[in-house]
Amino acid sequence: MALDYKVVDSVIEGLIVILPAMVANAAPVLSKGKKPIDFNKKFIDGRRLLGDGKTWEGLIVGLTAGTITGLILALIMRESILIEIGILASLGAMIGDIIASFIKRRLRLERGEPAPILDQLNFYIGAVIVLYIAGYRFTLAILLILAIISGLLHILANIVAYKLKLKRVPW
Ligand code: CTP
Ligand code: MG
Repeated sequence: MALDYKVVDSVIEGLIVILPAMVANAAPVLSKGKKPIDFNKKFIDGRRLLGDGKTWEGLIVGLTAGTITGLILALIMRESILIEIGILASLGAMIGDIIASFIKRRLRLERGEPAPILDQLNFYIGAVIVLYIAGYRFTLAILLILAIISGLLHILANIVAYKLKLKRVPW
């Protein structure tokens, strides 16, 4: 069976396409980043633009880890399009995560305070939108299945990160 990554209509294609986004989203916590992306700037509501949870080091580590994941998948699957997919998915994941923090700050939620669904799916939604803009297509069924898998894995990864004392809160 040939896998056509431009039209993602099987779970296996979906998992391969979204894996770099998952890695990009999980990796920043390892960076121990200190330089905030928003340069400590405040928005017109007097609150931080993004907050201390979004750092340049984390962004670079996330993009690098996600891109390497795409590279490894490309080698394993012998499919060079997976390099492009890895870069796009990682970029989308980081953009989604940053937009989510912007929204959380506007909702007066402090850094690390939970925002159910937004916390779990921001990277997934970001990755899907960037891939879509680049011409990739997903069936609705695959989008829903991947959303559930992404959400559950995100919850699991954060509990593990908390137990390993990498994160201050288990979400
Ligand atoms: N992180 C980072 N840079 C990023 C994204 C994440 O340094 N671009 C690190 C931060 O240490 C952050 C941790 O990874 O605290 C977990 O990420 P996340 O849960 O997305 O951040 P929160 O601290 O929960 O902040 P927010 O409320 O803004 O989501
Ligand atoms: Mg969080």
